[in-house]
Parts: sequence; C-alpha cells; structure tokens
Amino acid sequence: MRRKALSAILAVAMVAALVVGCGSSTTETTGDAAATEEATDDAAADDAAAEAENEALAAAEGGRIGVAMPTQSSERWINDGANMKEKLEALGYEVDLQYAEDDPQAQVSQIENMIAAGANCLVIAAVDSGALTTVEAAAKEAGIPIIAYDRLLMDTDAVSYYASFDNKGVGTAIANYIVEAKDLEAAREAGESYTIEFFMGSPDDNNAVLLHQGIMEVLQPYLDDGTLDCKTGRTSFEDTCILRWSQETAQQWCENYLTGFYAEEDLDIACTAFDGFAYGVKAALQGAGYTAENWPLVTGQDAELMACKNILDGTQTMSIYKDTRLLAEKCITMVQAVMTGTEPEINDTTTYDNNVIVVPSYLCTPVAVDAENLQEVIVDGGYYAAEDLGL
Ligand code: BGC
Repeated sequence: MRRKALSAILAVAMVAALVVGCGSSTTETTGDAAATEEATDDAAADDAAAEAENEALAAAEGGRIGVAMPTQSSERWINDGANMKEKLEALGYEVDLQYAEDDPQAQVSQIENMIAAGANCLVIAAVDSGALTTVEAAAKEAGIPIIAYDRLLMDTDAVSYYASFDNKGVGTAIANYIVEAKDLEAAREAGESYTIEFFMGSPDDNNAVLLHQGIMEVLQPYLDDGTLDCKTGRTSFEDTCILRWSQETAQQWCENYLTGFYAEEDLDIACTAFDGFAYGVKAALQGAGYTAENWPLVTGQDAELMACKNILDGTQTMSIYKDTRLLAEKCITMVQAVMTGTEPEINDTTTYDNNVIVVPSYLCTPVAVDAENLQEVIVDGGYYAAEDLGL
C-alpha cells in the first residue's frame, strides 16, 4: 500500500515538473537574451522538478506511527518513549505515543484506538507479550505492520521485526560480573561460599526468561558445588520471577528473606534483574540494618539515573547499560523500512522464536557498568551529564 502511495505521489511530482517545463517553452524571446533566458528557464524547471520530487518524498516519509509503551513507572520507558517520539517527528512522522501503566487490557484498547485513528505502523513494547494477539491480528488484517520494541511479541505472525538488546547476554553479563567481583573461582578453590538470592523479571516478558537463562548458565555450577549458597532455595525462574517487574514485590520478598533466612548470616549477593528491584532491595537492606560494612553486591539492569547515583554511593554495585538512544535508532530504521517497502538492518534471524515465527531482529549490545567505568561509559558516552550525577 505504501509503495502504491509513493508511486502515485511521484507521478504527481513528475506531472508537476512537466507542467513547469511546458510553461517555460511558451516564453517569447530573441537572440542571446533568449538563450540566457532559456537556460534560466531550464534551471528553474529543474529546480521546480527537484522541489516537487523532494516534497513528494517528504510526504511519503510522513505517516502516522502508533507507539505503545508499557509504563511510566520506570525511567527507562519514559526515555524510550521520548526518544522514539522525538526521532520519528524529526523525520516527519506523526506520533501517537501511549503508556499502558502496566495494564494489559489498557494496552489492547490503546492499540485498537491507534488502528482506528489510521496508524500506518505500530511500534509495541508490550505489558504482557502474549496478551495482544487479537489486536495484532486486527492490525495485520488492516495492512498495518508491527515492530516489537525491546520485548518480543509472542504467539503472533503479525510482527515484522524486533529491535532489542541481547537479552540472554544481559543475564550473562550480570552473572560474569558476580563471578569476577567475588572471585568465585578462588572461593571454590578455598572451599568458601557466598550467600545469594535472586529477583527475576516478569513471567509474561520473554526478556526475563532469557535473562534468567543467561544468569544460570554461568552461576548454576557454583550453586551446584556450594560456592554459592541460596538459603531460600529459590533459584528457578518460576520461583524467582516477579510479575510486572514490581519494585514493591522485590522489596517485600527481600524483607521476608532477610528475616526468615538471614538472621544468623549476612546476605552477600542480591542478584536482581532490574534497577527497580535493586531500589526495593536497598530499602529492605536499610530496614534490616545493613551498612557499608556488610552491604551485599547488588546487581540491576537499565543504568537508570537513580541506579547510577546508587552505584556512586555504594548502595548498588552494578547495572546493565542499555543505550536506549541506539535502540530507538535501530527501531526507527525498521519503521522506515516497512513504510517504504525496503529491508532494514538485521543481525539475528534465529534466536527470537515467538512460538509462531522466528522474528528477524536487531540486537544491541548490553554493557555492565559499575563505579569503575561509570564515568567513561555513561558520562563520556553522553547518556547522563556529570552534574546530573553530582560529579
Ligand atoms: C527490559 C528491561 C527492563 C524491564 C523492566 C524488560 O523488558 O528489557 O530493560 O528493566 O523490562 O521494565
């Protein structure tokens, strides 16, 4: 449909150019002046044609993009939404940005409204990745392409592309950080152990499943031989996943763990999958009287501003930096591709099977940040200004 619209607009542009051309040939002129005038007329005709063509292309670039985001309760999605809107508008698109505040049904209604309002393309970061199949089918039926943003859209053939980070790689990076920071190899040799608890992501988010896989691929051997000691015994995804990535639930769990299992011994490692969880864990630790002396290693994800401040003051040890500016850029190349009938850049065609199709993906690389490299990665990289971090 877009292709047809583009050819129609270009045809109009060409006719416009011809009309301008014809007009110039009717001008009556003589001698040198005539030649000069003719050349001027030709140049003017060329200019007009180029202008008409540019206008046509600009019009073709335009269109209405529905951007459905999950929640404004965490900083990263606010940044994601703002980046997408700004960049799409700069390209001449009209943007309908909606946040569902973690309510799957609200997100379905928002997407239905986007379709009814004439969206030409949908970008969706799902609240519940499997809850949108009916509305996704309706979009497909209406010829509206869908791009999955950060979270894979499950159980549907209506999704064209997926822009995200290497989600298993996020888990691997968190686990590798723990292995190195605590020198688990040396601990194993010495027969020492560290206590650890896990706070994993939402069960309706494929990213959370992959992240847990990435963590366990690295840490399971240390759990098996006792180098890591999980006193609650909660290590499986089923036992550690937290619905809708709730910070309150993470805090509550941590409070319960500390009173129920860590009265005699300190918790050494809080392996959390999200900065929001790290904030909940921080509150629980403070409530239980932990200080800098016995503060555990606390992990997170997203490198939110607050997390970076906590990393600098020592109440969070690390986070995973996911440059949402880059993600937005990659996603926008996908939007432009579906709008103009071209192919976007893809770097993974095998990993993201949504139970119906394997979705062609572009995966950005996550980077672990801690107090050592925060200045270099986050500040020098222009993600946050030094003064925002009190540096
Ligand atoms: C994202 C993470 C984010 C989490 C909670 C996941 O889908 O990949 O970056 O921390 O949702 O919002």
